[in-house]
Amino acid sequence: MPIFFNEKTKVFTINTQNTTYAMMIEPYHLLTHLYYGERIDESADLTYLTNAGSVGRPAIYPDVTYDEFEGGAGKFCPHARLLEYSGFGVGDFRTTSLQGRFSDGSQTTDLRYHSHKIIDSKPSLEGIPAVYANENEKAQTLVITLKDKVCELYAELSYSIIEGHDEIMRSVRIVNKTGAPFMIDCALSMSLDIPRKDFDVITFYGKPNNERYVDRSPIRHGKTSCESTAGLTNHFSNNSIILCETSATEESGDCYGATLVYSGNYSVSCELDHVGRVRMALGISPTGFCWKLEDGEAFVTPEAIMSYSNKGLGGLSRGFHNLIRYNVCRGKYKDARRPVLINNWEATVFDFNEDKLVEIAKEAKDFGVEMLVMDDGWFGHRNWDNNSLGDWFELKDKLPNGIPGLCKRINELGMKLGVWFEPEMISEDSELYRKHPDWCIKTPGRDPFRGRWELVLDLTRQEIRDCIYNQMAKILSESPVAYIKWDANRYITDAYSLSLSADSQGEFFHRYVLGLYDLMERICKNFPDVLFENCASGGGRYDAGMMYYSPQIWCSDNTDPAHRMKIQYGSSLIYPVSTMGSHVAYSPNINTFHPASVLTRGITAMAGTFGFELDPSLEDEKSKKEMLIMTDLYKKHYFTINHGDYYRIASPYEQANAMSRISAWQFVSKDKESALFNMVQMDNVNDGADAIFKLKGLDKNKNYKLHMYYDERNDKIKPFTPWLEQKELGVFSGDVLMKAGLHLNLFRGDNMSALIELEAVK
Ligand code: GLA
Repeated sequence: MPIFFNEKTKVFTINTQNTTYAMMIEPYHLLTHLYYGERIDESADLTYLTNAGSVGRPAIYPDVTYDEFEGGAGKFCPHARLLEYSGFGVGDFRTTSLQGRFSDGSQTTDLRYHSHKIIDSKPSLEGIPAVYANENEKAQTLVITLKDKVCELYAELSYSIIEGHDEIMRSVRIVNKTGAPFMIDCALSMSLDIPRKDFDVITFYGKPNNERYVDRSPIRHGKTSCESTAGLTNHFSNNSIILCETSATEESGDCYGATLVYSGNYSVSCELDHVGRVRMALGISPTGFCWKLEDGEAFVTPEAIMSYSNKGLGGLSRGFHNLIRYNVCRGKYKDARRPVLINNWEATVFDFNEDKLVEIAKEAKDFGVEMLVMDDGWFGHRNWDNNSLGDWFELKDKLPNGIPGLCKRINELGMKLGVWFEPEMISEDSELYRKHPDWCIKTPGRDPFRGRWELVLDLTRQEIRDCIYNQMAKILSESPVAYIKWDANRYITDAYSLSLSADSQGEFFHRYVLGLYDLMERICKNFPDVLFENCASGGGRYDAGMMYYSPQIWCSDNTDPAHRMKIQYGSSLIYPVSTMGSHVAYSPNINTFHPASVLTRGITAMAGTFGFELDPSLEDEKSKKEMLIMTDLYKKHYFTINHGDYYRIASPYEQANAMSRISAWQFVSKDKESALFNMVQMDNVNDGADAIFKLKGLDKNKNYKLHMYYDERNDKIKPFTPWLEQKELGVFSGDVLMKAGLHLNLFRGDNMSALIELEAVK
């Protein structure tokens, strides 16, 4: 049994294939943490790990007598212990897990072990996305109920595991049976105490157009935290955090990581204390949060996915990838190959009509494209971004035959149609706003802040969700729309809902997210064949919560490969490439004016969902030919890329040598029969040196035939134009490729690339 309780030692053990997590019930019903790390034999006695740190002037549990304390010292001081879930006002002065106010205004919550159960499943969470076990997968869940020492306030801590995965899913259900309301000011999803300090902390930072850059820094005393108060996950940070041994590399070293299955305000933090222990904590941000929990009610926190790997950052990432793509993402396109699409946004912005879209689709078909996505500007009277959100009916000037007419023509080409929506927003210049000026989020008596001239609909209200659902359902029912790009182009300000009482306004942000999930669930359930792509001004809502509804998210509005390398590398620390919306766009790029070869743009988009974002009529024959090669390559290797293992080989954040910066990564199919190596030379003036790449994850006993696609600067044919060339590199053993590595002579010029196919040969 992977989860078990030893009655004699009072130790709970959770074993995954490679990890062990242990906790213990101690005297006075304290639930303390013992161990999280590499898998330990089931018979081992871990109770010796209860030893406590020392504290200066400790607060002592009130149950302890003078004589006991003399013998135990720190053992009886909450601040000195490793705790599973920490209450407020009870002597633990690190990050609090649960804080709230009882009806008399008091805040002390003294959480002690009450009971537990082990169940043979992974339950879903009410109204909120969560990791699920597939039909053929065994799962177990340990629920430990803590109870306040003096009243009936409970915290039910859940720990779930799924066979074949090393991640542990954690969430908490707060139950109020005190006979009066309990105001929750903070209820975290998880807290993890680790008694060591030789860590680097990895968090993510960014902005619109440069999301999820990696920040790896040595841990410092005090608290390191990232938070969103923007109503959505936002561009500035991400709701994931990693602690890795200072010496950890891609292949080795202890790594602890966690991410939230949540799309709203969050807080992720780690805190190094004065005796060298770290507390990692994740959950809904307490800023602006207050939940009135009536007597008899329960509050469920979002789920946190927590993981440990001693195989470095690569090992940790691959675990997250497998869990997110198979046990978070849902729907038909979790497994099925997704169509290669072309999106018209960078091609036309708002300036298009039915004929133009059909022309784009027709030309793109020549390079293998299977779906046209009509982006912003098809509805209401929208020709610019300051109007019509909320009016989800066709603008006849652009679509005289409506979406059914356009869809018919696209389908006749043998292609599918996708449509852009921004369902959560409302423009002041819209029919919807004129009819319902009170449907947007605003604080009474204040003029609301605008974001891109939009206001946000109050999705806590059922009638508003119904109205948006009905408009979208009408479009989806009238023609076989195959894809929805679900955008959200502003953050939430002026938080307030007319549907909530004065003492419940602190619930607003979380209720908004629950409303959003409700709306998305309804659409996913009633239109199961539609592929969803989430988007928030690029990758502003990139989280595992959204991935439950949309298996892919537009990673960034920045389509320049040089920037995308960093964005996608950062994202890959937690999220699988199958979730990363990524397109081949113009060269020079419209955001940065950097030129890049088709191969460079192609392999960048291939480390994602692969598609196009350009007007094919502006491309020359050479480019179109190369685009077809890229599309064919993507289709050929779809399953290796999206269902294989992903290895980071060279970081775009680091200087490869004094002269150049290189980004390189690799995909290996699960059976190790095929692999793809990709590298982009981000800046280089040819210095003649070989770059050496030790490949990873191959079968050392297999021989692989290598075929390379590469950029050659062919000045004879057309000056200064990279030319896509191909050549056979020969047959090499997996052993040699992983030890001596691949030796590539660097090309002359920036943004020059190579893609190498590896096929096992007998
Ligand atoms: C956002 C998205 C873009 C595009 C525009 C349309 O910025 O990130 O991809 O859809 O909106 O307005």
